[in-house]
Amino acid sequence: MTPEKAHGLPGLFVAFEGGDGAGKSTQASLLCEALRAANIPLVRTREPGGTPVGEKLRSLVLEHGQGEIDARTEALLFAASRAAHVAQVILPALARGDVVVCDRYVDSSVAYQGAGRELGAQTVLDVNLWAVNGLRPDLTVLLDVEPAEGRSRRTAQDTPEDRMESEPDPFHERIRAQFLDLAGGSPDHYLVLPADGAEDQLGRMILDAVTGRLA
Ligand code: TYD
Repeated sequence: MTPEKAHGLPGLFVAFEGGDGAGKSTQASLLCEALRAANIPLVRTREPGGTPVGEKLRSLVLEHGQGEIDARTEALLFAASRAAHVAQVILPALARGDVVVCDRYVDSSVAYQGAGRELGAQTVLDVNLWAVNGLRPDLTVLLDVEPAEGRSRRTAQDTPEDRMESEPDPFHERIRAQFLDLAGGSPDHYLVLPADGAEDQLGRMILDAVTGRLA
């Protein structure tokens, strides 16, 4: 049975989550291509970012050389970016009836700031649920990647590491465990897939899960 929608709006909210190098962007693109081909209206967006204020916060919090950013400030910058994103982009799209495909959402803060930076999962969740006025995704696709594998995938892409990516493996291990814990606590709202699966197979499973919720 398809789970109840997490909000009362006509659209469908799909979030992609996972560690760095999990291949979220590739799978989000495949999903959007398939939905567009079926003439399903959608908005693709990402966090941090998605709005002018969010893009500024994104460079503040991710680029090196912005001076020291302590863990609480970092968590609040992500939450502020998310509040703007929900109010200006996600809620209007869900109200129109669109599918919203979002690269990262609240779970990223719970995993990176709550577990990675050790601020505490519940505290970070509470701050974020306040920021987004309780809005949760209808489906979260979690691409589960081992930190070492994620790192080697990123190295292969040859792009410079941002502030999060350059953290050591134990930081990324805590993040991975936290993502899995969130998914385990609410299995109806998660699709957990191994990031090293074949791209087209993963794509099909994700599309099935999304179309099942559109019906
Ligand atoms: P990005 O370049 O979007 O990477 P990715 O393709 O992996 O999503 O960088 C986002 C980085 O910010 C990533 O390392 C995760 C981190 N992040 C947090 O720490 N907290 C958050 O709430 C969000 C949304 C992202």
